[in-house]
Amino acid sequence: MAAFFLPFYTIFACYFSIHKMKHIIISGPPGSGKGTQAVKLAEHYGLVHISTGDVLRDAIMRKTTLGVIAQQRIDKGNFVPDDIALSIIQEFIDDEHPGSNGFIFDGFPRTLNQAYIFDDMLLQRGQQLSAFILLYVLNEITIDRMQKRALKLGRPDDAHIDIINHRIKIYHDVTEPIVGYYENKGLLVKINGEKTEEDVLSTIIEKLDKRLR
Ligand code: AP5
Ligand code: MG
Repeated sequence: MAAFFLPFYTIFACYFSIHKMKHIIISGPPGSGKGTQAVKLAEHYGLVHISTGDVLRDAIMRKTTLGVIAQQRIDKGNFVPDDIALSIIQEFIDDEHPGSNGFIFDGFPRTLNQAYIFDDMLLQRGQQLSAFILLYVLNEITIDRMQKRALKLGRPDDAHIDIINHRIKIYHDVTEPIVGYYENKGLLVKINGEKTEEDVLSTIIEKLDKRLR
């Protein structure tokens, strides 16, 4: 009898394990605190964190073919082509992530085209997004944060005010339109990212808990 029900139970369990996965995007201008909050949220909710920026910086450090292409773009504050960002994400979601409750995508998607294709990727896996977190922070504050970080970490894209301003402009021109796209899907969670790291985190958790319940 047990042998008869086992296959049904397995299908049932698989179905619900896929559907309970929580996939969250964290977005916002350069220096808004995406990486800082994504690490804490990953720990809090048992998510795996992926930052396309970190993957690209790692490739640059290792001088891979991807790294060479990425460096020419990133150091000037430009985006890498969509197909590069999408292949990083494809590889990440195709990997095994045992024990994870879902993923937190930091700095991806960054264009409407990335957002559309990402939807299809998730759909093909029978999965969907749970929330799109937008950290909003005034330009003056993000600039100050990046200039302080430049002294500590030495990221080339933080090194000159012209590059910082260029990144901010690209964010507003190219990335911001995705906010409306996710708002129309009822996924937008807007967070004031100008408060302390702890306050920002507790506000996100409070809003996400209501949504994920
Ligand atoms: P990416 O690495 O994603 O850079 P970014 O979007 O410019 O954002 P940052 O990493 O600079 O800032 P953050 O929002 O993570 O803030 P953080 O937590 O570090 O991308 C880099 C580049 O890669 C892009 O420009 C592009 O070229 C390319 N790229 C990446 N993804 C791509 C994609 N999908 N498509 C195409 N190209 C892509 O915080 C900043 C600082 O502030 C830190 O020092 C932190 O300690 C501090 N801080 C954080 N929170 C607070 C707070 N609440 N109060 C005070 N200080 C704070
Ligand atoms: Mg970051």
